[in-house]
This record gives sequence, C-alpha cells and structure tokens, in this order.
Amino acid sequence: MIIIKKSWEIAESEVTPEPLYLRRREFMKAAGTIGGALMLSPWSSAQGALEIGAYQGNAVTLDEEITEEDAANSYNNFYEFGTGKEDPMQKSKRFTTDDWTIVVSGECEKHGSYGLEDMVKPFTVEERIYRLRCVEAWSMVVPWLGIPLGSILQSFQPTSKAKYVAFKTLHDPVRMPGQQRSVLDWPYREGLTIAEAMHPLTILSVGMYGKTMPNQNGAPIRLVVPWKYGFKSIKSIVGIEFTETQPQTSWNMAASREYGFYSNVNPTVDHPRWSQKRERRIGDIFKRDTLMLNGYADEVASLYDGLDLAVNF
Ligand code: MTE
Repeated sequence: MIIIKKSWEIAESEVTPEPLYLRRREFMKAAGTIGGALMLSPWSSAQGALEIGAYQGNAVTLDEEITEEDAANSYNNFYEFGTGKEDPMQKSKRFTTDDWTIVVSGECEKHGSYGLEDMVKPFTVEERIYRLRCVEAWSMVVPWLGIPLGSILQSFQPTSKAKYVAFKTLHDPVRMPGQQRSVLDWPYREGLTIAEAMHPLTILSVGMYGKTMPNQNGAPIRLVVPWKYGFKSIKSIVGIEFTETQPQTSWNMAASREYGFYSNVNPTVDHPRWSQKRERRIGDIFKRDTLMLNGYADEVASLYDGLDLAVNF
C-alpha cells in the first residue's frame, strides 16, 4: 500500500538534482505557470508499506476551482466495480493493493516484473492540478500526485522500435466483481503513442488531494493524460508494454465508431450520439465550453501537426 505522509517545505533548488531542476523550470515556463509552495523529500519505507514522503508543489496550476474531494471520490467511472457512478466507491472498499507488481514487457531493455515500490521510489512525486474531461461531457479539476510517465519509461530503456506504450488493468473477477459481467472485453486496456507517453504533462498518479490514491480512483497507480478524454486515464495498472504497432484499446474495441485511439478532447468533433462542445463541471449548475485539447493545446498541439483530428479522433 502507498501511504502519503504529510510533507514539509523546502527550497526546490536545495533538493532537486540540477538537471531535473532545470528541466522542471523549463516545463513550468512552457506551461506558462508558476510553481506554488514546493515540498520535497525522499520516499521512505516503514512497516512494509511504501510512504510517499512528500511531493513537489504545483508544476501546473489552474485559475479554476478544484473539485470537492468528496465529489471526485464518489462520482467515478471504474467499470471493474460496476457501471453506476457510485459503484466504484461502494464496491471497492475491500479491494487490497498490497504487494502490487507491474509487468514491463516489449520493446525495451529492462523488461521484467517490478514491485510498485521499486518502480516508483527513485522518483519525486509532484502535485499536478489538471482538468479531467470525461467523454460523457462532465469534468472535474483534480490535484493529482504523480510522477512524469516519461521518467519512469526511460528507466526501462525503450528500444528504437518502441512506437507505442500499452497499459493493462488488473484482471481478477473475484477482487473486481464488475469483471464478472462482460461489459467490456477484460482486462481494461489503453495505449498512447511514445511521444504522448513521454510528454511532460503525462503522469502516473499514486495519489490525489495530498493522499494515497483511493481504490475507486485507480489505486495504487493509474495514468493521467489531461488533454485526452478520461477513459484514456487507465486505473490500477499491472502491465506496461512497449510496442511497435498501435495497441488495442478497450473502448475502441467495444465501439470503434465512437471511440478512436487518440481520443483527444476536441469540442469540434462530436461523439456520434452527443455534442462535445460543452461540459458540466461537477458541482456547477451551468455548462461551460469545452476547450480544445482540454485547455492544454499550447503544450500538446504540436504532437498532432499534420494529423487530421476529425479522422484521427
Ligand atoms: N480505468 C479502468 N481500468 N476502468 C474504467 O472503467 N474508466 C475511465 C478511466 N479509467 C475506467 C478507467 C473513465 S471513462 C474515466 S472518465 C476515468 O477513469 C474516471 O476517473 P475518476 O473516476 O478517477 O474520475
């Protein structure tokens, strides 16, 4: 289990290795944001549980209200625990994530089975406040705690053949009772191009609201890709595979006309059954306009230069 302890304040430059520090500053500049309070400390382990000692302050801040923690923890999509919005909260209470391992395979030098602790411990946890826009036209603003996915992927030394990264959720119908029904072709699968996976906005998240990741939000580790529809942000990951060809993804397999591989938030490309122009922020009464690439176009639009986003939806 990952426990996030209370952190303390310390100057960023004192504790961050210089290359990382410089990269982070570049990133903050690119993102057009200023870091908030900065908190850092190493990971530590006690009583068999992994503790996230502390985390870096906001690399990305938003001038928008953060969604109430209770709402973000009780209005969820996690079909492994049922299809109702409150099912994940209610039906994941006994789900345990001790001794979690992640199998890394495919086009990389360092494949193998990694304990979660071994995989994430060399990295510093950062807080990232991101918009999350579900394809169902609701949205939230969530303070995630996570590690840039790219840093973790680099540690596996991908080969030049690695063009995509595929992710898999745990498949265990006893522990995840929603998998006893064939709502989807289990396990839940997702994928990114290697450029999307390496982009500094993409994180593997181990917590939210300053705490360990709740089961219903994808404990112990999930993906967060803020410019894509929420279903790309796969929960409870047990497999990471570097592939040469585009991997299969769950929602695309279920309904390819409705859900493409890219699934970038795009108000100009409607879902076949509803408009994507507007969204309801959880907690708001009125809808608001959906932003191109969920408001992250300055950072990520260049990933799609020359690609017709209406065709590659
Ligand atoms: N991951 C898995 N394994 N199973 C799921 O059903 N739902 C997706 C995504 N990740 C899902 C998943 C969808 S549709 C959304 S909108 C987000 O998780 C919701 O994340 P949240 O419940 O933490 O807000």
